[in-house]
Amino acid sequence: MAGTPLAKAEPPGDPTPIRSDDGKYVDKNGNPTYQIGKGGEVDWYTYSGFVRYSAECLRCHGPDGMGSSYGPALVESLKRLGYSDFFSTVAGGKQDVNAAQTLVMPALGGDRNVMCYVDSIYVYLRARADGALGRGRPAQHAPKPASYVKAENECMG
Ligand code: HEC
Repeated sequence: MAGTPLAKAEPPGDPTPIRSDDGKYVDKNGNPTYQIGKGGEVDWYTYSGFVRYSAECLRCHGPDGMGSSYGPALVESLKRLGYSDFFSTVAGGKQDVNAAQTLVMPALGGDRNVMCYVDSIYVYLRARADGALGRGRPAQHAPKPASYVKAENECMG
């Protein structure tokens, strides 16, 4: 699906985590990233991202980020979109209107069920885009970190 590429799109770059803040992994640019162990165990945020993606994005973007007749395949988009582009598109929305179709990505910046989990959704899709994670619910995941619970409570209010 075409869509208008964001002018400032910066690719996500090397996903290798350089540090973990209580189970939340960060790459060398300071952006959220995923951690997948040898046995396939994903970090909690990646797992949470699968759950939240499925609840909030799947109906337009298809199962596992694979795209649908309405929304683009985010497993492809995330090869091109870094964290800040992803964040601003999710928060601010995007439209592609032409003679053949009107495609609308809603602005979800006011939706806590999305924005409180935007980093999780990002790392999940990043792992999918990199081919590091297959389709479906990740079979094994790290335990939920205490700081995740705290941030979730503060964000959801
Ligand atoms: C109501 C349907 C709908 C929902 C719900 C939705 N999207 Fe979208 N999204 C779209 C459409 C349609 C586009 C393409 C817009 C365009 O081409 O301008 C899009 C575009 C995007 C893009 C830009 C893709 C690119 O290649 O530039 C991102 C990133 C994105 N959506 C993320 C999400 C995430 C994450 C969620 C869930 C939190 C979500 N969307 C929920 C319909 C939706």
